Amino acid sequence: MTARLNPEVAALVEARLRYYRDLGSYDLYRRGLPPAALEDSEPAATAQSEVTKTLPPTPHVTTTATESEIPDLSPRASRSAVSAALSPAQALQLLREEIGDCTRCPLAFLGRHTIVFGDGDPHARLMFVGEGPGADEDAQGLPFVGRAGQLLNNMITAMGLQREQVYIANIVKCRPPQNRTPEPEEARTCVPFLFRQIEIIKPEVIVALGSTAATYLLEVKSSLAALRGRIHMAHNSKLIVTYHPAYLLRDPRQKKEAWIDLQIAMRELGLKPAKPAGD
Ligand code: URA
Repeated sequence: MTARLNPEVAALVEARLRYYRDLGSYDLYRRGLPPAALEDSEPAATAQSEVTKTLPPTPHVTTTATESEIPDLSPRASRSAVSAALSPAQALQLLREEIGDCTRCPLAFLGRHTIVFGDGDPHARLMFVGEGPGADEDAQGLPFVGRAGQLLNNMITAMGLQREQVYIANIVKCRPPQNRTPEPEEARTCVPFLFRQIEIIKPEVIVALGSTAATYLLEVKSSLAALRGRIHMAHNSKLIVTYHPAYLLRDPRQKKEAWIDLQIAMRELGLKPAKPAGD
């Protein structure tokens, strides 16, 4: 019989192990449980204390292990346990805690004030992904709250939704200086966290806003023109590519084209466009 930890505890243990990995410690050893702890009748608390003893104290561990077992602590295995056990909101919160005050890439040292994790409904059917925070987002800690954000809000409303009903995130979570395009190293360091957000939220449709979002979500380098107008499959979601709102602010003639892209997403979600105000 293999034993399994309470998934909530497994999540905390996993977060702690990642913390050590980030510090450069990869070899961690776990003592086996004493035979008594593995007996079905043994009180769960015994198994729990034996496991936590091998790790530094974890302040929030209040749950006790159930009859089953010591978890497979490989990131993959415990992550599926996490998804199964936690609500999307809790899983996102845990992921945010894991990111911490991130210094994994150069953007941490290039003037960012706030990490912009993402915003919206953890159960959203529709997710928008942009490039990276700008000055307003960096100041407020929320994605798409500046001028481009206003336009994105209008796009969402036109689709018959409210901003609170979707989830919004970016390829990188820290502001690139002068709003430059994220360097490949920065994007590749950050994007696994976005992929995990997608894995937690499981949106039916993702809209990639602009070519940086399309490139890293689809893992292809292609022109926006070549990627627009069709449904891609990526990260277990349908993915549609359209123009970035900041580009639409610079060239409003392309709004018509963007609306065509959004209608593809709407069709997939069974959405009807909002009625114009006054109707
Ligand atoms: N542009 C982006 O790509 N993301 C934001 O959050 C804001 C502006």
